[in-house]
Amino acid sequence: MIKVRPEFGFDRSSVIVLVTSEQVKAGKLPSKNKALDQELGKAIRAVHFEGGNGEMVTTVVGEKAVLLVGLGKENEISRTAICVAVRRALLSAHLKKVSSVEIVPHRDAAETVTPIIEASIIGVYAWKKYVSSKKEERVPDKKDVYVVAVPRDEYAGVMRVAENVNFARDLVNDNADVTHSLYLEKVVRGIVRGEKNVSLEILDRKKLQAKKFGLLLAVNQGSNKEPRVLLARYRGAGKKAPYIALVGKGLTFDSGGLNLKTTGHIETMRCDMSGAAAVIALLKVALELKIKRNIIFACAIAENAIDANAYKPGDVVISYSGKSVEIGNTDAEGRLVLADLLSYIIKKDRPAQVVDIATLTGSVVIALGHDYTGMVSNNDVLAESLLKSASATDERTWRLPNYPELKEAIKSKTADIKNISNWRGAGGTITAAEFLRQFVGDTPWAHLDIAGTAFVENDARLYYGHGATGVGIRLLSHYLQNS
Ligand code: BES
Ligand code: ZN
Ligand code: ZN
Repeated sequence: MIKVRPEFGFDRSSVIVLVTSEQVKAGKLPSKNKALDQELGKAIRAVHFEGGNGEMVTTVVGEKAVLLVGLGKENEISRTAICVAVRRALLSAHLKKVSSVEIVPHRDAAETVTPIIEASIIGVYAWKKYVSSKKEERVPDKKDVYVVAVPRDEYAGVMRVAENVNFARDLVNDNADVTHSLYLEKVVRGIVRGEKNVSLEILDRKKLQAKKFGLLLAVNQGSNKEPRVLLARYRGAGKKAPYIALVGKGLTFDSGGLNLKTTGHIETMRCDMSGAAAVIALLKVALELKIKRNIIFACAIAENAIDANAYKPGDVVISYSGKSVEIGNTDAEGRLVLADLLSYIIKKDRPAQVVDIATLTGSVVIALGHDYTGMVSNNDVLAESLLKSASATDERTWRLPNYPELKEAIKSKTADIKNISNWRGAGGTITAAEFLRQFVGDTPWAHLDIAGTAFVENDARLYYGHGATGVGIRLLSHYLQNS
């Protein structure tokens, strides 16, 4: 449980985590109690703590242990840096045995309290469903955390969003054969049950065939799982208010298909529904926070598997839009399922803007690494606005270009368009995005390529442990509430 309360240090059983900047050297301390500050100052000097970034030392004040956490220079502190430091403190050996802690921020401001809350929920998350060790080892994260600050209404929202980040991570982290299409359908049905302002449209195999979702069906052709399109239309604003559509790539597993992925690339491919998981979590966020907008939440769910029916390299497939598509590579399947769903929504609902979120290309890792999501957009206003939300939430995002000549890269000799580019992998993220752009027409559209940011392999990254990160949920929650 996380609670924000203004009082400082009355809970005798807890440890105080004092988050400080280098200002601590100048005697700047957070409490309003002079006597306490004096004691604290002495204890800090006794252990030579200077508030440098990464510094972490315990000291004692009266009967209470105080874990000192440094953030460095005050004007260089990012939201991410606070999350990293607080996560480290919460998971450290210093706090192993305590069930409740009080965290005292270096400043009582939303920019500081918000990342502390996030670190206490997102930072301590660990996926241990299938680890059968002792209970206390399995759950390092179930501490009561009190953040010492003046409560603000917005913190409840911050907590809801953070919990839903973890909700999405659970969906991604579990086995592909657990969180498959029918499971995700059940999850979505559960979320909207009893909600009056949401209507659900589920396209099953029959409906997808009747509507001619040729690309999505082709991708799923080698799988024994059911294909699905899950669409939730949420009305948080008036009838006449425009809709924004959020569209998630939901490949519950991506083997690559007949262009089979190799060892080293295939093991984490249950993460290929991270976009859809984010969209489902955002639906929950919209309902819980009663976001005052009209929003379409849409997921294209399929599995890229192989059997004798699997779609084949060289095939030409007719898309929902009517465009024919040459399958240059069965592993470039995300753009296929998204293309059908994007054109369907745009035709049917005419949303004012569309944002898709997808683990689309390995190339985005080459371009930007693992800390920045790649964005491509056909609309500067939408792009700028999303970038603002990205920096407000520190969900780091970088815009990559889109320009008319890119169209040449995805020309086909046998069809209207091809699902891989003729550039032999060069600019793989922008050519993939260009493929999507061919299906959105003039609708303002932005594409978030989260292939580099959605999943942590091996050790922790920033303040995320191994596995899914739930990237995009904070960014888009912010966007939905502030743009
Ligand atoms: N799902 C992958 C992209 C991916 C890579 C996600 C790494 C997460 C981590 C996508 O479907 C894919 O396989 N893309 C290919 C496209 C290529 C065949 C043109 C890629 O990036 O290699
Ligand atoms: Zn693929
Ligand atoms: Zn994929």
